[in-house]
Amino acid sequence: MGDTTSAAGPRERELLLQARGVSMNFGGVLALDDVDLSVYRGEIAGLIGPNGAGKTTLFNVISGVLQPTRGRVMLDGKDITSWQPHKRGRAGMARTFQRLELFDHLSVADNLLASWEAVTPGAVLGRHRTKGRAKVAEVMERLRLGALASRVAGTLPTGQARVVELARALCTGPRVLLLDEPSSGLDQAETVWFGEILKDIVGRDIGEPSILLVEHDMSLVMEICDEITVLDFGRKIACGTPVQVRNDPAVIAAYLGAPQEKDTTARFNSEPGVSGFSADGVAATVEVAR
Ligand SMILES: Nc1ncnc2c1ncn2[C@@H]1O[C@H](COP(=O)(O)OP(=O)(O)OP(=O)(O)O)[C@@H](O)[C@H]1O
Ligand SMILES: [Mg+2]
Repeated sequence: MGDTTSAAGPRERELLLQARGVSMNFGGVLALDDVDLSVYRGEIAGLIGPNGAGKTTLFNVISGVLQPTRGRVMLDGKDITSWQPHKRGRAGMARTFQRLELFDHLSVADNLLASWEAVTPGAVLGRHRTKGRAKVAEVMERLRLGALASRVAGTLPTGQARVVELARALCTGPRVLLLDEPSSGLDQAETVWFGEILKDIVGRDIGEPSILLVEHDMSLVMEICDEITVLDFGRKIACGTPVQVRNDPAVIAAYLGAPQEKDTTARFNSEPGVSGFSADGVAATVEVAR
């Protein structure tokens, strides 16, 4: 374990969540092959890779939606591989979905309250509800959602809905937030704004919440992550700081295609105009024909 520097000064990194030697075989398709990934307390861990690299599969193994063929998932050094998603939720793991999963017909405030209730035993009892409403108010203030409290969630534009989804996750008081492509559907300005929110909520000083971010938007990943794990064809090909990863020849080859490949851009899944990698390792804007 190395040191990291925060506003409070250098501190020892503490491991919170870990995938160890995870393999996933879907009836002959080896989606993950002996993959390790670590999330440290109070840090943002990024998980990237070209199309079909295995990111969502690993995310689902970590959140408990999928049981791996081999390997383990550890939380605080405890083996949680066989735990159902709701049990992981109670242990402090909160996730968002690539497809928005809000209750469209409920208000923003009620969406947040429902999320808090889902992880709070006896939550529907009146005396607990006061606590729940206080938590909802605290999170709405933190994410500056107060003005939207009574808006029906289904009427929100995507950018605001993404923040509400994040707020729902925060209402569970998570130790780690698992975010599956949270910038999906956001334009570039909204993505920058969303990144600022993530930087604001990660618990650098108190150690929680930590964040695991699966993301296609390279500029967002490079800007906010402490450590990035890169998958390609189900294998971990790199892990390091944004600068290390950006300059890693294996990563550049994976995104731009190995020299011997004919179609070198086909596997780079990105919206036109989004920052990616250039051959000299410097983040660049890459136009991709789909
Ligand atoms: N349920 C499944 N059954 C069979 N194969 C699957 C299943 N889920 C994923 N795969 C395969 O596993 C591989 C990894 O898929 P995965 O969705 O994890 O990749 P990804 O990195 O999330 O890709 P993308 O960037 O396109 O979201 C792919 O080859 C995919 O077709
Ligand atoms: Mg995916």
